Amino acid sequence: MLDKLKRRWGVNGVNLLLILCTFAVGGSLCGYGARKILLLTCLESGALWILVYILLITLLWPASVLLISIVFGQFSFFKKYLIKIISHFTGNMEKSISVAIFASGAGSNAEKIIQHFARQVNLTPSEKKKHTKVIISLIVCNKSGAGVLEIASRAGIPTLLIEKEHFFNGTHYLPELKSYGIDFIVLAGFLWKIPPDLIQAFPNKIVNIHPALLPKYGGKGMYGNKVHEAVIAAAEKESGITIHFVDELYDHGKVILQATCNIDESDNAESLAKKIHLLEHQHYPVVIEKVLNAK
Ligand code: GAR
Repeated sequence: MLDKLKRRWGVNGVNLLLILCTFAVGGSLCGYGARKILLLTCLESGALWILVYILLITLLWPASVLLISIVFGQFSFFKKYLIKIISHFTGNMEKSISVAIFASGAGSNAEKIIQHFARQVNLTPSEKKKHTKVIISLIVCNKSGAGVLEIASRAGIPTLLIEKEHFFNGTHYLPELKSYGIDFIVLAGFLWKIPPDLIQAFPNKIVNIHPALLPKYGGKGMYGNKVHEAVIAAAEKESGITIHFVDELYDHGKVILQATCNIDESDNAESLAKKIHLLEHQHYPVVIEKVLNAK
């Protein structure tokens, strides 16, 4: 039950506890305030008293909870939900998409994507109408100790550490992804092949980035520095990045964008990796945003 709430609200255990305390204290404050106001009206207890009490509770409850949320440091959580409820009633509901980022390594791409969509809060109301609201709801990782887990924890994003057998031969973590309400998957340096069942559950809703100009230097075993070493060994004059939809073959689905960089004679795998990372950070968040705005 508590785990379900944590996933649904996208919070960790400590925040969940503080949120529940906010509800409890805010609710009590609201009941206390409503009774005090009723005393001032000199109303006799009876049907009218109950009616006015209910009305006061309805009006005071959001204000008391918001006030107490400041004390418990949970104001941003409650503000978000209040805006959601108001938007629902005013018919001003923004479209939102929940994204899971799958990553196995340092997570520099994941970090840029998180930062990019965090800036959405600064959009003006009219800009917001033109943009799909993107929430990075989950980081999925197959390596304990991977840098991306630290990035997720700093950003307050829940993580799911997955294991091979269950990913390939179990439920592929589909129930977990469902419980987080995931609509779209971004692979950012994720080194396992995506099982067919997962691809079918997210048709045209999984994108990947590859650090070379596919179809060259792709396929099983071609990741990270191995790709750059192969490109340098082949004395290529240029390399680049490929952002593509994921299908059932390695590094294969429909290409969304390719961007290139020159390779100088002095370049080695490490210096090429730096150039490629710059290209990835520049393009991947923007491309994801474009794909999601088109959905
Ligand atoms: C990125 O360069 C990405 O293109 C590559 O892994 C790196 C992850 O870096 N992906 C592949 O090689 C997939 N075949 P990051 O962890 O710093 O984002």
